[in-house]
Amino acid sequence: MSRETWNQVYLRLKVLLRRAGIENEAGEAGALFEEVFGAGRRDLLLHGDRIADPASTARLFELADRRAAGYPLQYLLGKWWFMEEQFAVGEGVLVPRPDTETVVLEAERLAKAYGLETAADLCSGSGCIAVSLAKRCPGLRVWALELSADAFPYLERNILSSGAAVTPLRADVLQPDGLRLPDALDLVVANPPYIRSEVVGTLGKTVSHEPRIALDGGPDGLLFYRGITSVWKEYLRPGGWLVFEIGFDQAAGVREILAAHGFAALRCLRDYGGNDRVVCGRKRG
Ligand SMILES: C[S@@+](CC[C@H](N)C(=O)[O-])C[C@H]1O[C@@H](n2cnc3c(N)ncnc32)[C@H](O)[C@@H]1O
Repeated sequence: MSRETWNQVYLRLKVLLRRAGIENEAGEAGALFEEVFGAGRRDLLLHGDRIADPASTARLFELADRRAAGYPLQYLLGKWWFMEEQFAVGEGVLVPRPDTETVVLEAERLAKAYGLETAADLCSGSGCIAVSLAKRCPGLRVWALELSADAFPYLERNILSSGAAVTPLRADVLQPDGLRLPDALDLVVANPPYIRSEVVGTLGKTVSHEPRIALDGGPDGLLFYRGITSVWKEYLRPGGWLVFEIGFDQAAGVREILAAHGFAALRCLRDYGGNDRVVCGRKRG
């Protein structure tokens, strides 16, 4: 029977992850250890000489082996955090990324500055944008649209557990016929698939476990920007706002699409890493 202490198990785990090329091996080891042993960093510091339960240790290293093989940490945990909220995630749904905060912050700024009352979050996935926006803007009613049968249950579950004022709708945002939405929306936000089709397969082991439907933006990556702008400008009221998350090199292309559809007040915002991340515009009044 194993006589390893918590500290010894944690160190062995960290070494395994480091050897597998995991960059943030200490953070990930801490998260996996906490998941299995229910003990965080503080507990490890205070009680690191406790003898580790062998069954839990075996379970921990099963997870670690899967992580070392490239399976996403977030799917192993079944949850991830985005702007102070916890979201259920798993195979079939994109893991929320910190860069997406830029979209929420700009949508929140617009909602508050212009007293916006209705919004649609297209390509909602886990619902991280819809839920965070609704929580930050109590006067805003939000509809969250998602096509994937695998992602939709996560969206419903995350809305329910958050208690946010968001209505989930299973829909194709490029053909949104017969939807029960307000006549004219104040705001449309979207983080659509935007990776060029030929690049999707080259994104690395961990991303390869995420759904292709969440990533593939067509031959030039702009398919959804064209489709959404053309379809959803009809759902926006005059003076309403469209806010897109974009890839770091797509600002010019997306601005051009918005301008061609008559949007004004075009702006581009950068994420925390200094990359172009959001393009937004206003439907002419
Ligand atoms: C880049 S992910 C964004 C997910 C989430 N909004 C976020 O920021 O993490 C794009 C999402 O669009 C969904 N999707 C792809 N094609 C769609 C379509 N035609 N209609 C609605 N949703 C679609 C995918 O299933 C995926 O959840």
